[in-house]
Parts: sequence; structure tokens; C-alpha cells
Amino acid sequence: MLKGKKILLGITGSIAAYKATLLVRELIKAEAEVKVILTPASLDFVTPVTLSTLSRNPAITDFYIEKSAGEWVNHVELGLWADLMLIAPASANTLAKMNQGISDNILLTTFLSARCPVWVAPAMDLDMYTNASTAENFVALETKGIRILDSAEGELASGLVGKGRMQEPEQLFSVVQEFFEPNSILKDKNVLITAGPTQENIDPVRYIGNRSTGKMGVALANAFVEYGAEVQLVLGPSSIEVDRTQIEVFDVKTAIEMLEKTKEFFSSSDITIFSAAVADYRPKMVADQKIKKSDSEMNITLTKNPDIASEMGRLKSSKQINIGFALETDNELENAKKKLIAKNFDAIVLNSLQDAGAGFGHDTNKVSIVSKNNIVESTELMSKQNVAKKIVNFTEDLVNEKISSTL
Ligand code: C5P
Repeated sequence: MLKGKKILLGITGSIAAYKATLLVRELIKAEAEVKVILTPASLDFVTPVTLSTLSRNPAITDFYIEKSAGEWVNHVELGLWADLMLIAPASANTLAKMNQGISDNILLTTFLSARCPVWVAPAMDLDMYTNASTAENFVALETKGIRILDSAEGELASGLVGKGRMQEPEQLFSVVQEFFEPNSILKDKNVLITAGPTQENIDPVRYIGNRSTGKMGVALANAFVEYGAEVQLVLGPSSIEVDRTQIEVFDVKTAIEMLEKTKEFFSSSDITIFSAAVADYRPKMVADQKIKKSDSEMNITLTKNPDIASEMGRLKSSKQINIGFALETDNELENAKKKLIAKNFDAIVLNSLQDAGAGFGHDTNKVSIVSKNNIVESTELMSKQNVAKKIVNFTEDLVNEKISSTL
């Protein structure tokens, strides 16, 4: 299952470093490609020879392979090579430096240039673990999209008993396996997502738009892919980078184009998420030529755009799940619930406008997920990636509910 998957394993200075050797052995057995980077402090616990032998690749310990010959380790290339970067064990020191962007060793430098998902498996004494600075670093790293493979309770090297033990190599191996071969109920499900703004033409050079960036929709698309779904993304004009090798993207400009593309794929979609900020109106007439400046006032007559979510709500079968978004300024919950019913959604994600950092353009969001009966979950302000994960986990529950109600 892990055949050919490229895994960069970072090892830091902790007694748990010896367990990383067992993880490497498991990964190699599963036919993954593994490259190991060791921090200077880790060398007190494990040797490069052990890791080179087990990983079948030279273990990397320094910025240079042969300094006198000017032969250096290309950390950017390493960062691009990896499908997954896992730092296990991750010491409190390395976690703090990762959070600060400090790059004083080859592991940290590679971390800064990695484009793949980065996970950490912390290992430290229980008081270091609960120390306020470490706790802050955990939260901050998570907000930046780093996955924390939380430590377990147990006997620690200090002789104390508490939280701080690195997860066992077998556990780490199964999380990696699950990532590449997800076991989720969403595996192979067709997920259709509308995202971004729409642009409604006034003339060949002007349009009516809005401030949506598409960040939330792209984060959702990535999260569903991570859970093994087949994702199609109908995306309005957006400058957000999308991994088009994993996600089928249809670029659209106007609400009408978005409706057409959504309609084309809706009947084969198991789950459809309407996260686009669709313009409610468009100019009734689109001028063929650039409109010249003449009078002191100018009027544009607008006509109503189709409501994509409502139209798909009418076409929805009992097996399909539709999830919408709502951005309300007053009577938030009540209005969101009304929208849920009017558009035949199975659930609606209510964006909070009350909090700085939530909504359009921000990297963070704070939402309430509302189902037909109640608020299922209200999140803290967190990264859009983590909000996306919450929505995906909630969708798993909805799929399970649908399955058990049809039994
Ligand atoms: O009615 P309102 O625009 O607040 O509804 C928001 C929800 O409906 C979002 O899920 C949005 O993507 C969807 N919508 C749509 N087509 C429109 C307007 C909104 O799909 N024309």
C-alpha cells in the first residue's frame, strides 16, 4: 500500500529516537521510500549508519555532504521530493523552533521548504509537555496545518509517569498507512464542491465581483482528497493554488457557468458542498464594447442569478447529501436554519462574522455546523484547513446516518 510513497523522517534528540529505527524498518517493509534527517542532538541516541542501513538511503545529518568539496544537501529538493514529512520523535526544542521558523539545522531548514503535509510525534517529559510555552507551540503549529500525533500517557524515561511518550512505531506506521490508503467511509465517494466568487460581466473589461478568495473551498477539496474521496471543484476566479493532479478543477467565471458545470456533475455526486459566494444578481445586458464614460451618473439594471444550491436541492435524491454555507449578520442561527430548509440542505455551515479573523480572505475561520435538528458543533477560531477537517468528519457522520437509515 505504501509502495513508492516518499517519506521524509526527521529524528530529533530524544530517547524515543531508537523507536524511529523500528518505524523505518516497517516503512521499508511496506515498500515506501524513506530518507532520514537527523538533528545534531539525535546523534547521541542513534547513529547515521543504523538509519542509512535501514532506510537504504544515506542518512542526512548536516547541510554538507562533503564541505571541503562544496557538496551540500539540497533541502529544497528534499522538501519537494517528499509525499509526507514526519518528525518522530519531535522534541520540545524542535517544535518551538518549527513554530518560530528557526532553521539552524538541516531538519528545520527542510521543514521550512517542505510543501507536503508535515506531522510531528512529540516525545518529552510530562512537565515539558504541559509547560505553557510547549502548549502554545502545539496550538500554533496546528493552526499552521501541522498534524500533531499526540503523545500517549505512560512511563517516561525520567521514571515519572504521565503524558509525553511518543506513539509506538506500530501506531505511527498505521497512521501513515491510513493517510495513504484511507479507511474512511468517504473513500471513493464523489464529492462536488463549488468555491470562490463569481464575476458577472458588465462589458468586456468590467465585472461585478465579491471578496471571496476560494480558500475555504480549496481547503475542503484538499481535506476530502485526504480522506480518499474523488473531488471535483467548480471554482470561480481565484488565485489560490490547487493541486490539479489530485482534484479535478473546472474554472468558471459567472454564476450561469457555475450552475452549468455543477448541473453536469451533480447527478453522479454523492456529496455536494456549496461554498461558493455566488453573485445574487448580474447585469441584465452585457455591453459588447467597453462602456464609454459620458453622463455623470450611470445605471446598470441587474437581474437575478439562478440559485445553484436551490436548484440542486430540487434535483437531490434521498441518497445524496448537500451541504451549504451561510453568512448572516442578524438572527444568524434562525436564518441559517431557514436557508437549510429552503435549499434542501442536509446541513449548513454558519460562518461567524462577529470574529476578527473569520470569513472572507482570512486564513482562519470560525463556524457552527448546523444540521436539521440542532447545532452539531461550534468551532474555535482555527485554520481553514482544520475547519475543513471538522466539516469532513461531520460529513462522515452524515453518510453513516444515511446508510443506517436505509437499512
Ligand atoms: O442565500 P445565500 O446566498 O445566503 O445562500 C448561501 C448558500 O447558497 C451557499 O451555500 C452558497 O454557495 C449557495 N448559493 C448558490 N447560488 C446562489 C446563491 C447562493 O449556490 N446563487
